[in-house]
Amino acid sequence: MLQLSLSWLGLGPLAASPWPLLLLLLASWFLARILAWIYTIYDNSRRLRCFPQPPKRSWFWGHLGLVTPTEQGMRDVTQLVATYPQGFRTWLGPIHPLVTLCHPDMVRALTNASAAVAPKDMVFYSFLKPWLGDGLLLSSGDKWSHHRRLLTPAFHFNILKPYMKIFNDSVNIMHAKWKRLASGGSTCLDMFEHISLMTLDSLQKCVFSFDSNCQE
Ligand SMILES: *[C@@H]1O[C@H](CO)[C@@H](O)[C@H](O)[C@H]1NC(C)=O
Ligand SMILES: *[C@@H]1O[C@H](CO)[C@@H](O)[C@H](O)[C@H]1NC(C)=O
Repeated sequence: MLQLSLSWLGLGPLAASPWPLLLLLLASWFLARILAWIYTIYDNSRRLRCFPQPPKRSWFWGHLGLVTPTEQGMRDVTQLVATYPQGFRTWLGPIHPLVTLCHPDMVRALTNASAAVAPKDMVFYSFLKPWLGDGLLLSSGDKWSHHRRLLTPAFHFNILKPYMKIFNDSVNIMHAKWKRLASGGSTCLDMFEHISLMTLDSLQKCVFSFDSNCQE
């Protein structure tokens, strides 16, 4: 009966061996996957249309290379945020969108969303897992909620407020050092080292109540 209907479809010779049929099935499965993937990309880009988009550099590269890691790049970012104060959408290549939120009201909506509504990007975080383990940064769901609840009292604003003065003092030391260096004729300085020292200074003062004067 099957033989009969297949030959009626013009597939008579195919039915002789199962391989062409299997190949056909496999090819249809691939096609279905590709179509589903294209539809997901289309659907995502349709939903993100509510965010304004600066002009693309090219259809293929999207906005890649729009902002360079230079002083001009910093100016470009400032200009972008001034033009799109709420937030904007850029494309990393032809299919990968990136939404940048600028206004505190927009950011608040996201940071205040529950963990179920705003899940973490597991593709990105999976790279960090071998280094950092399944701690507060990388865990999700119930495990994250439980750990976060345990930590909440330690991050209460009233506990953090006294640290403001320590941070401020450490930054003031750093600024004084920069002023000294600038007045001494040095116009170029590697900020990374200075900021690392300032962080170390703040940590020692906050965690160990120890003033090591490491910035001097
Ligand atoms: C944050 O979300 C909670 C409920 O999820 C809501 O009650 C609260 O008003 C929100 N806060 C802000 C600042 O949006
Ligand atoms: C931080 O230090 C600056 C400079 O000394 C001072 O003007 C400012 O009031 C300080 N702020 C706080 C929060 O201590």
